[in-house]
Amino acid sequence: MKIAPSMLSCDFSKMGEELVRIDNGGADLIHLDVMDGHFVPNITIGSDIVSALRPYSKLPFDVHLMIDYPFDYIEQFSRAGADIIAFHIEAKSDITATIEKINSFGVKPGLVIKPNTPAESVFPYLDKVYMILIMTVEPGFGGQSFMADMLPKVAVIKNKAAEMGLDILVEADGGVNENTIAQAARAGIDICVSGTGVFKAKDASEAISNLKRISDDALK
Ligand code: DX5
Ligand code: ZN
Repeated sequence: MKIAPSMLSCDFSKMGEELVRIDNGGADLIHLDVMDGHFVPNITIGSDIVSALRPYSKLPFDVHLMIDYPFDYIEQFSRAGADIIAFHIEAKSDITATIEKINSFGVKPGLVIKPNTPAESVFPYLDKVYMILIMTVEPGFGGQSFMADMLPKVAVIKNKAAEMGLDILVEADGGVNENTIAQAARAGIDICVSGTGVFKAKDASEAISNLKRISDDALK
């Protein structure tokens, strides 16, 4: 299991140091939550912050756009140093055009589904994306409870991808911690985002290695 700590739960007054702390602690990717106050009822960071953080780590930046019009911001986030840009299928931009725009900048496209959105809704785009992100909380805030009933979506997506001859990554986001990661691993999740599970732990490095150990054990 790869772990992508979410910077949403870090100390925002020292984001650079926080990023170094989790990079040294064994993170595999860095998850950056972008919210516009429209798509979700919260406002977080923009591309200038992503750009400012870029020199602090060589790890892939996994940018999660929770914004109404992702198409209009792909260039900014690509230039800021995103490696993956995932946007919501429920957003208002044209989905195929947005995926193509992400590809045009050499960035990997991801598609995100909210809890009420069925897994089947991503089928038309499976051959066009690098990753599907399944929300295991309602997007907007860190620290919410894991929705285990989202996990059957993983098999639906993986089976369809296999049928199409595709090998697609599936990421889970929201409420992943030491108590919930085993279920995510068994369901076939490849990457888990964890915000509070990592940043609010006493020792981030220990938290990351625990998450990996628990998910590895769950697969034995
Ligand atoms: C929620 C965000 C998540 C959030 C996860 O909208 O997309 O990435 O930061 O935080 P935890 O792990 O605390 O649920
Ligand atoms: Zn996220």
